[in-house]
Amino acid sequence: ATPRARRILAGLGFTKKMQDRPTNSFSGGWRMRVSLARALFLEPTLLLLDEPTNHLDLNAVIWLDNYLQGWKKTLLIVSHDQSFLDNVCNEIIHLDNLKLHYYKGNYSMFKKMHLQKRKEMIKEYEKQEKRMKEMKSSGSSKKQAEKKTKEALTRKQEKNRSKFQKNEEETGPTELLTRPKEYIVKFSFPDPPPLQPPILGLYGVTFAYKDQKPLFVDVDFGIDLSSRVAIVGPNGVGKSTFLKLLVGELTPQKGDARRNHRLKIGRFDQHSGEHLTAEETPAEYLIRLFDLQYEKARKALGTFGLASHAHTIKMKDLSGGQKARVALAELCNMSPDVVILDEPTNNLDIESIDALAEAINEYKGGVIIVSHDERLIRDTNCTLWVIEQQNINEIGGDFDDYRTELLESLGEVINSPSIAANAAVQQ
Ligand SMILES: Nc1ncnc2c1ncn2[C@@H]1O[C@H](COP(=O)(O)OP(=O)(O)O)[C@@H](O)[C@H]1O
Ligand SMILES: [Mg+2]
Repeated sequence: ATPRARRILAGLGFTKKMQDRPTNSFSGGWRMRVSLARALFLEPTLLLLDEPTNHLDLNAVIWLDNYLQGWKKTLLIVSHDQSFLDNVCNEIIHLDNLKLHYYKGNYSMFKKMHLQKRKEMIKEYEKQEKRMKEMKSSGSSKKQAEKKTKEALTRKQEKNRSKFQKNEEETGPTELLTRPKEYIVKFSFPDPPPLQPPILGLYGVTFAYKDQKPLFVDVDFGIDLSSRVAIVGPNGVGKSTFLKLLVGELTPQKGDARRNHRLKIGRFDQHSGEHLTAEETPAEYLIRLFDLQYEKARKALGTFGLASHAHTIKMKDLSGGQKARVALAELCNMSPDVVILDEPTNNLDIESIDALAEAINEYKGGVIIVSHDERLIRDTNCTLWVIEQQNINEIGGDFDDYRTELLESLGEVINSPSIAANAAVQQ
């Protein structure tokens, strides 16, 4: 292969040996990477990427992010990874209310502008409602009031059009303004009671899956209620296995896992939701588990961004994302002392990832995260621990140091995040 092909493959996590293996010897996740590598190598005029980070580990995301910052051709990306969008994109298209809305700048800038726009839209809507009320109280019928309001809106539009020479605005009949839809996800974890340390740890643990090389040899690790740990390492290094050993789902060949006997562990991963009972509705499920009142259960589901109509349909008919929300609601309501998240973002949208980061920040318990979402790791102030050489070690330095070190080890030129985006806005 050419050096460029090798560079792309290495960045996406293929070791030298793997680079020369036939494609059909790889598992699904790795084949996905092969096709991503192929798309990058071909350098098409227009590259479309739909959730490219979902099946990558953090190292590969860091590399892809850095690589695409230097991309000279057109990129169209769908992603729920905020850092990625911030670093790579200089324009955002928002699909809202059946229309596409265009914004210059990266995702953070979009967020600011969108918030502003929303405020203005709510003001306009409230003004319209007030005017209609006045018309009605001075004797107009509902129909007349609506007609007059529509006429006023049309006049305003025409005036604007001639003023700014914008003819891209819609030309059809003007509709009454509707209240901008609210989509807010916000939740929090209750504070855990104090617990005597050590609360959760591994002592001299050695572990191998049957007939395989050991993944861990003589590992010591422990956390307390104030721990904030992000575990990183390439795909297949044993991150999920490590978490399973920690919570006692797997038994080590040597050493043991110990925990405070009163400890409640809350877990959330990409399979969360699969355990949900198929025939129950989300509301019934929460009511049964936590003895909640009906209204309380509905409210709880609402704060996790589950749309109202989905509260009362059977769990087997929910989408993966909707099930993830039910699982999050369950996680919070069980009042965990320690929260363990294994790739939690795959089934969540940006708003929910934001809400999760915020909830973790306010949470007083222990946290362990495995994630390829840079923003979640940064926002939650986690210390980085890396799994390597059959052990786990804390990394000195912060996320940027980790990023720099990784890119240097790959021999990459390190781009500075958001340069493209900032330039686009300053134009
Ligand atoms: N139940 C299992 N039986 C045998 N091998 C497994 C099992 N689960 C995972 N493995 C293997 O163990 C290694 C580590 O897997 P995992 O902990 O899932 O890695 P990570 O979460 O870091 O991607 C991989 O090579 C994987 O194929
Ligand atoms: Mg894993």
